[in-house]
Amino acid sequence: MLNIVILAAGMGKRMQSDLPKVLHPIAGKPMLEHVLGTAQALSPQQVVVVVGHGAEQVQTRYPAQAGLVFALQSPQHGTGHAVQQAVPALLDDGSAQDATLVLYGDVPMVQAATLERLLQARGNGVAVLTEFLGDPTGYGRIVRGDDGTVQRIVEHKDASETERAINEVNTGILVAPTAKLKDWLNRIDNNNAQGEYYLTDIIALAVADGVPVQAAQAHAAWETLGVNSRIQQAQLERLWQAELARRQLEQGVTLADPSRFDQRGDLQCGRDVYIDVGCIFEGTVVLGDGVHVGPHSVLKDVVVEDGVRIEAYCHLQQAQIGVEAKVGPYARLRPGTQLGAQAHVGNFVEIKNAIFGTGSKANHLAYVGDADIGERVNIGAGTITCNYDGANKYRTVIEDDVFIGSDTQLVAPVRVGKGATIGAGTTLTKDAPAEQLTLSRTHQRSIEAWRRPVKKT
Ligand code: UD1
Ligand code: CA
Repeated sequence: MLNIVILAAGMGKRMQSDLPKVLHPIAGKPMLEHVLGTAQALSPQQVVVVVGHGAEQVQTRYPAQAGLVFALQSPQHGTGHAVQQAVPALLDDGSAQDATLVLYGDVPMVQAATLERLLQARGNGVAVLTEFLGDPTGYGRIVRGDDGTVQRIVEHKDASETERAINEVNTGILVAPTAKLKDWLNRIDNNNAQGEYYLTDIIALAVADGVPVQAAQAHAAWETLGVNSRIQQAQLERLWQAELARRQLEQGVTLADPSRFDQRGDLQCGRDVYIDVGCIFEGTVVLGDGVHVGPHSVLKDVVVEDGVRIEAYCHLQQAQIGVEAKVGPYARLRPGTQLGAQAHVGNFVEIKNAIFGTGSKANHLAYVGDADIGERVNIGAGTITCNYDGANKYRTVIEDDVFIGSDTQLVAPVRVGKGATIGAGTTLTKDAPAEQLTLSRTHQRSIEAWRRPVKKT
């Protein structure tokens, strides 16, 4: 049985925040959620999150459920004390496979593949994830014996000069046999420089009990970086974004500049996708083959079909864009927008909860909300669907092949019949019949004798 304990009780003082540290995001998602996701990927029987500072906020955000429980650590007396609080929730059936893996809520980007290797490395013993650092200051050092085996971990504050020269450090992540771990945790004390119960002290106890201790390393250095400050959060964000950019490039996506790419969710790209600088992808975004995304666009939960061009500065949310459609520059597609194939939505057009049929166009300055637009419709500049009377919303229906002249207001509910033309400047308050020209306009007149007023002296 595999248990995973996630330490998340620390205060995170250096974040200078009211939000518990583990709820601060990397790539748009709380750090703890990254760790919970990675933990789930290992199919554990039990996940125990040790909470303390901000416990309520953490538990509200991630409610306990089958396989996910919380243990409260208050006050905090060290990492060993923290794991002790999780002990009552640990599952073991006495088999040699029983193991408990300890992760940190503030070391969010460790990857499942690395943890799988750590679990492999342990055999039936203990394994510690270690790292070699140019400057190991502050970290626990891995003390190895003459035969090269791990003997114990000494914290920086307790280390001698010779021990401080060791550059192999403890990342904090380790795995141990569950029953033995419980026993060792009962035997650690706080006679050390910090007066804390160190989880790291179980290593020497394991060695004394003849349990082998292995060390393994992560694939990439960023996997074991912890976040204790906004600076470290920002640094890890960039490292993780560089990794996400690298993965997209590897899949054949062109990024105009991989260092100006932000993926805060799931981004699936087809073949020959081009993404210009400064774009932000949130939620789940799907880009079909040959899609072009211009600079500085924000796409959240959108599906973009093959051959679509999104020009600069677009904001798209919960929208679906059909094959070879053109969007932007400066277009805003709000939730419920569905553009058909070859639709065109140009600059300063806002669309909400509306369907555009194949080949329909709104090329400039329009608001189209709560509308069903047929095929090959042309919506002129300045057109507005008046969908809201201050209390309720109504739909506008525009059938196929309609031409809406510029500066038209469609006061919903209203329907424009197939092939109709609406004259520029019309305020449409009644349905417009198919194939006819409808317009509401006062007759134009000129006053010959009119003179401009003159300023009084
Ligand atoms: C710990 C390790 C050290 C390692 C370093 C890596 C120990 C004794 N030391 O040191 O060997 O090199 O991590 O970053 O384990 N936490 C609790 N409750 C507590 C104390 C800590 O939940 O009482 C949590 C913190 O929220 C954090 C993690 O444990 O997520 C590590 O705590 P931290 O104080 O950063 O450990 P270090 O002293 O840096
Ligand atoms: Ca730390």
